[in-house]
Amino acid sequence: MVVIKKICCIGAGYVGGPTCSVIAQMCKDIAVTVVDVNAERIKAWNSDQLPIFEPGLQEVVESCRGQNLFFSTDIDKAIKEADLVFISVNTPSKTFGIGKGRAADLKYIEACARRIAEVGIGNKIVVEKSTVPVRAAESIRRIFNANTKCNLNLQVLSNPEFLAEGTAINDLKNPDRVLIGGDETPEGGKAIQALKSIYQRWVPENKIITTNTWSSELSKLAANAFLAQRISSINSISALCEATGADVEEVAHAIGTDQRIGSKFLKASIGFGGSCFQKDVLNLVYLCEALNLPEVARYWQQVIEINDYQRRRFAARVIGCLFNTVTDKKIGLLGFAFKKNTGDTRESSSIYVSKYLMDEGAKLHIFDPKVKKEQIIQDLSQTNICDDDPDRVSRLVTVALDPYEACKNAHAIVICTEWDMFKELDYEKIYKAMLKPAFIFDGRRILDGLHEKLQRIGFQVETIGKKVTELIPFTASKETSRNDLQAPAAKKLKI
Ligand code: UDX
Ligand code: UDX
Repeated sequence: MVVIKKICCIGAGYVGGPTCSVIAQMCKDIAVTVVDVNAERIKAWNSDQLPIFEPGLQEVVESCRGQNLFFSTDIDKAIKEADLVFISVNTPSKTFGIGKGRAADLKYIEACARRIAEVGIGNKIVVEKSTVPVRAAESIRRIFNANTKCNLNLQVLSNPEFLAEGTAINDLKNPDRVLIGGDETPEGGKAIQALKSIYQRWVPENKIITTNTWSSELSKLAANAFLAQRISSINSISALCEATGADVEEVAHAIGTDQRIGSKFLKASIGFGGSCFQKDVLNLVYLCEALNLPEVARYWQQVIEINDYQRRRFAARVIGCLFNTVTDKKIGLLGFAFKKNTGDTRESSSIYVSKYLMDEGAKLHIFDPKVKKEQIIQDLSQTNICDDDPDRVSRLVTVALDPYEACKNAHAIVICTEWDMFKELDYEKIYKAMLKPAFIFDGRRILDGLHEKLQRIGFQVETIGKKVTELIPFTASKETSRNDLQAPAAKKLKI
């Protein structure tokens, strides 16, 4: 039985940091060193201001940092000493070349594999934690086989992470399952057992699934694709609800009580964001195309298309309700993170809704309790968001320090992230300071319990997945074409 005494994790990000902090807390006899090329990030992990906001993480880190949990930039030393190396570096979509915008860029993974082969000695288990295209482990193995010296023996495992940001600590401590994929050889089996023995300290054995490497890699992509697909499914129904008298929350509840369907991931929204869903679905699409499965590729591509549509549709509804123009109108945009309880903005739908409103000349005053001003400005300045007008952000975007400031003198409030604090705002105070008619667009269905109160105050409340107000010219006759079913602003945004 291989005994793991030292672990190295390359990549101190949203996955590597929390995962290894929990492993260190659960396995006091194992020394865990998390390394990263980014010295600033490592400095932050060693301080009171952790580089990522994640509920409960600070306590976990403080319970073992300096004892059996270390954060360092000395990557080579940590690799050399480790019995097991997690690779948790990021795998963004490629921005150029073959598979641009869809295939995962494995350059960081490859760099890690080459570094391990270069500086490693003895027996090591190398574990891919990062989400990778199917067969990435095979590439890592080939790099090892071509570069390994005689004093180094490496086994490669796939152990994808299923934590969700905002609930990462609970997800890690009480996982639905742990998935370990490895080589179907005696050495592969031993490596699987060694990794399994770490998780077994706190995860019941029946929740630890072992598979071959490719099944494990594909399961991660498939899991994210299924979750994303559920959101696109309910979001597509939300469009139907808005066009009829149905309410998507009621529909979601009614269908979710069927145990075969289940109630989770049926929350209509302005579209899913985050670093994983879009990237992984596109990755799956690319994989299917590369394997000559165009029908399968098109099926999953549609999940992304509905997500894009939902973001555009929401922005178009805001514009439509505001009398078809938002040019020079102040809009208080509440929430910029891709979900609550995180400061992460990667692929946040707020970015896209902001873009569509900026395209129409709206003056956005953005507030988020956990996202820094520089991050918001950086996200909105990306070339795909700002097109060819670099001054647009400075002209149109103000980052507000509190939600009241964001909404003062605004024509509308647009809720993009479901932060709990937005349910508890003093809406009477906000209403008094707004221009009239004062609109609230709830892109997250967090104000459902407050509708009556808000309407009594005087607000015009617009909610995703609920009938569109009469203000939008929404006339449909049998002869009307699909395009005519949309408000003019919606047409402009090419829904
Ligand atoms: C993770 C997963 O690993 C990715 O596959 C998944 O799909 C998204 O989430 P995450 O932890 O969120 O990535 O990424 P990030 O927060 O960007 O952290 C990655 C870290 O790796 C960064 O701190 C980066 O500096 C570091 N890194 C990257 C290295 O240390 N070395 C490299 O060569 C590349
Ligand atoms: C996801 C997976 O859940 C996790 O297992 C995987 O390891 C990484 O990717 P994450 O992206 O951190 O986790 O968050 P998640 O809770 O899945 O939310 C993703 C996006 O979907 C968010 O923008 C969220 O607001 C949105 N969402 C989620 C909905 O719009 N409706 C829902 O019902 C659920």
